[in-house]
Amino acid sequence: MKTMKMPMPSTDSVKVAVRVRPFSQREKNSGSKCVISMHSRTTTTVQDPKNPEHVKTFTFDLAYWSHSGFQEDKDGVLISADPTSDFAGQRDVFHDIGRGILDSAWQGYNATLLAYGQTGSGKSYSMIGFGANKGIIPNVCEELFQAIESQERNQEYQVTFSMLEIYNEQIRDLLSRTRKPGGLKVREDQHLGFYVEGLKSVPCESYAQIERLMEQGTKIRTTASTTMNASSSRSHMLITIQFKQVFLDRDLTKQSSINLVDLAGSERQKSSGAEGDRLREGSRVNLSLTSLGNVISALADAAMGKKVLHIPYRDSVLTKLLQSALGGNSRTTLIAAISPADICYEETLSTLRYAERAKKIRNAAVVNAWTLMRDLRAENKLLLRGGNHGMAEQVGSSPVDQQRGPGAHQATWAHLLAQARREWEQLYAAVAQEQQMVKTLPHLRNVNEDPQLSGVLRHFIRTGSWDAGQAASNAIILQGLGISDKHAAFTNLDGRVTVTPYGTCKVIVNGVPVTTETKLQHLDRVILGSNSAYLYVGFPAERGGEDWSRFDYDFFQLERAAAEGVSMDRLGAVSDGDGNADPSVLAVFQDYIRLMPLVAEANQMSEELNKGLQMELKVKNLASSDSRGYDLQKEVTVKVTNRRTHEVWIWSKAKFINRKFLMEELYQRFRDGEDSDVAQEDDPFWDPVEVVHLGSAHIWLQSLAYCMPFEEQVEFLNCDGLEEAVLHVHIAPCSPAGRAHGEEDVVTDPLELLGKRMDFQIHIVQCLGVKWLKEDAKRGIQIGYRIYDLPNTLYTKPVWKTMNPQIEETVQFAALNASQEFLNYLQTNALIVDLWGLQEGCAELSCSQLDPMATEEGHIVVDTRNLSLVKDPSQTASSQGADVYPKLLRLERETELLRDVNRALRAENVFLKGSLAKLSPGLQGETLLKVTGATAQQPTALRPDVPCTAAQAGSDRELARALKAFYQSMNAARGQLLRLRQSRPPEDDQLLRPFIHQQTQMLKDFGNLFESSLWKLKNDVALVVKKKREHLLPIQQ
Ligand SMILES: Nc1ncnc2c1ncn2[C@@H]1O[C@H](COP(=O)(O)OP(=O)(O)OP(=O)(O)O)[C@@H](O)[C@H]1O
Ligand SMILES: [Mg+2]
Repeated sequence: MKTMKMPMPSTDSVKVAVRVRPFSQREKNSGSKCVISMHSRTTTTVQDPKNPEHVKTFTFDLAYWSHSGFQEDKDGVLISADPTSDFAGQRDVFHDIGRGILDSAWQGYNATLLAYGQTGSGKSYSMIGFGANKGIIPNVCEELFQAIESQERNQEYQVTFSMLEIYNEQIRDLLSRTRKPGGLKVREDQHLGFYVEGLKSVPCESYAQIERLMEQGTKIRTTASTTMNASSSRSHMLITIQFKQVFLDRDLTKQSSINLVDLAGSERQKSSGAEGDRLREGSRVNLSLTSLGNVISALADAAMGKKVLHIPYRDSVLTKLLQSALGGNSRTTLIAAISPADICYEETLSTLRYAERAKKIRNAAVVNAWTLMRDLRAENKLLLRGGNHGMAEQVGSSPVDQQRGPGAHQATWAHLLAQARREWEQLYAAVAQEQQMVKTLPHLRNVNEDPQLSGVLRHFIRTGSWDAGQAASNAIILQGLGISDKHAAFTNLDGRVTVTPYGTCKVIVNGVPVTTETKLQHLDRVILGSNSAYLYVGFPAERGGEDWSRFDYDFFQLERAAAEGVSMDRLGAVSDGDGNADPSVLAVFQDYIRLMPLVAEANQMSEELNKGLQMELKVKNLASSDSRGYDLQKEVTVKVTNRRTHEVWIWSKAKFINRKFLMEELYQRFRDGEDSDVAQEDDPFWDPVEVVHLGSAHIWLQSLAYCMPFEEQVEFLNCDGLEEAVLHVHIAPCSPAGRAHGEEDVVTDPLELLGKRMDFQIHIVQCLGVKWLKEDAKRGIQIGYRIYDLPNTLYTKPVWKTMNPQIEETVQFAALNASQEFLNYLQTNALIVDLWGLQEGCAELSCSQLDPMATEEGHIVVDTRNLSLVKDPSQTASSQGADVYPKLLRLERETELLRDVNRALRAENVFLKGSLAKLSPGLQGETLLKVTGATAQQPTALRPDVPCTAAQAGSDRELARALKAFYQSMNAARGQLLRLRQSRPPEDDQLLRPFIHQQTQMLKDFGNLFESSLWKLKNDVALVVKKKREHLLPIQQ
């Protein structure tokens, strides 16, 4: 091809704009804070919500503040609320970016616009727009045709439009109704680069035509998303406009290719799931986006002068198609869409860093122009392939047509245009007819996770009775996972519309599954199959001026969750005084709602692929507490059970999401009739069996701090707070040789043990009524616990195939020099004992990581470090952050007080020793006198002539006994309180809700009161003992 002599290529950096959107409803509900500010037209500042002094500033070509300062005008367009507002609306964005693209196109440069950002950050809003707020793409198209119309007549303009989607590395033509299994292929031409073979590129002569094509493309995208159950936020959408100007008088042709790319949500690998899964490598979901990142990084490095040997364009479909947009002949702009919310901080930062790298890229765009006297063969090729870097192949323009010369080519163009016009007219008529039906007939209107794809599909319910389902023979053809060939019947008779499911087909109306004929009311929510959501729009007479937009995807899922008994209250959210729910519980709840439909889909795929898996959502730590009785950080997990083999796995949220992608890939192959058999190790529905956590038991250690043995039967509670088994355990203080201490060794104040050696034995006796073993006789269990600062979890030996496994394992521990922290730990913490389920073929648990220190006798040494108060790092890390500060504060106060008491006691000790030395000089150098009541036998032995001391010893023994009884019953009360806090009613009843709220709050208050009274009592007892002794001394002297 002979290009005109044009100025040198312009080397442009990629232009970058940032745009921050308003809060979403969900963000508003959860009390989000805005962490973004824009102090000028070019700077974006992000504040770390965890560390507000930590502020990062980025400078880009443009910064659009679309977060606040706006109002809706009468047509629904968002405009500045007042003249001082910094708000940037769709027109402002178009003014800079859209016009820039148009200018480039008119000059004959290729132009590319990419929208990058996490899911829901506003990419599609900027690119396509919503309703009256039209985005850059429609505005560019509209203005292009307006400008064409105002041009002189001795020029000819040719515009073609193509639209494609890349999902899972497969290309789908969004303008073609027939889907090619496996998608369209990217081909490479030596001269022309990469292009999509067979992609439809439609000649257009008006904006109205493009508008319809885009509507049609969105419809196909929506159907594809429901049929293949593929979330649109994981697909990339590319629109290409080829714009050619033929200057008949000047023997000149200019061509520009405008690429408009709405990228998939950019969630990083970590949050999107692949991390930590055996099958990470298999997922291709993010391949295009990951490759794009790699290409951008390599190009940025090259632009900075680093030696880059290879730009990995060939790694993915997207990077192949964007090769020239990124690394060559294009003027390229990137919009980085960001969320304002604090919870999105990490993603926002990652988006802005990505944009920073992109900004460094330098392109060398040239004007694509040539004279008519050119190499026809090369040009034919160009036309055929749709531009020198084109994504589309022009349909119908055969080389033969083109070889007839420019005149013939124009005739061909006219012919193609006429054909496209006819198609458009048909489409237009169909749309007009549908619009008429919308006005008059009751219908189902689709609701998609992506607001862009909601309200795109409609199923009309005419008078009569109509079958609905996947089969083409139905009057209402429905696509979607879990929808049967003949799924349900819709009737419209006597002004009444009903739905009746066939057999066991799933139909949910307003969150509740229905099995019989059910009347539909205007704006009822209908879910068919696993997750195809529709809003029912009733007869015209039923319709009012309601706001339908509130019935979005979230509404459907929340309603369904509520009907299944999942609510914030069920998850234990206790709101603070301001009515704001605990943010960590809110996050878990949102995760739960988001995963619920995905789990339903995964179960459906498992069923259709005959995998026999049953997946259910669980909330880890729903009812568990840490070693101090505080709620643990909750987390959504998926329990997976193989119905045939009874194998059980617990998947993290991330792992489930990753597996779901892989399941979709497999399912798609199955639906396409391809081979869907996979080797077991590649099967997303399979994993090697593993040990499963069944539940935890709390054993309060307070008695140990008083040197009192205790024996308990405690429940192992599972994550739902239900009894999984009963543990029989015996914990006893003992001598280094293992001889059990007697009553005389009981102390009234743990501080007496300070600095002494303390030995104790934990004897796990038996486990009773283990449900896990009841369910399947081939299973086994192991018990694990970790005390204080022990580096390892200790596991008992595995016991298999018995319902009430006898364990009988004893371990002796020794604190060689009991520290204050250790004594505090004993008084305020519980030993957490975990019950683990073993299944056939899984590896048993052993404690091999770190060898604990051992005494000469071979007992395990604890209390080796003198660090913080709570030593169990796993528990500390996972306990709720908000609780930590008040807890620490209280502990510090407690320690301070105990130190005072300790100081007083030591002084008293010295004093007592002195007076004793005075009284009986012969006993100098004897064993130290124990000063407290419980060990007061010695003074009696030493001073048999002092009757009041004997009486004192007797009363002290009584006091010790009373205290023992008291602490034991208090332990029981504490356990009871814990259980009470965990027990919640099984049903989420609207009526009961305020009452439960109140009760939870009262329980919390009671717990706090209980703890603080206990603490006070302990101190009082210590002071009483001290005072008593002060009183005793003068008598003794
Ligand atoms: N500038 C804005 N002004 C008003 N609303 C906006 C703006 N940007 C985004 N929104 C709203 O935020 C929501 C999410 O936006 P959008 O669908 O464009 O996100 P997205 O980045 O395309 O997400 P996905 O990756 O899932 O496709 C939509 O409801 C949209 O209307
Ligand atoms: Mg989008």
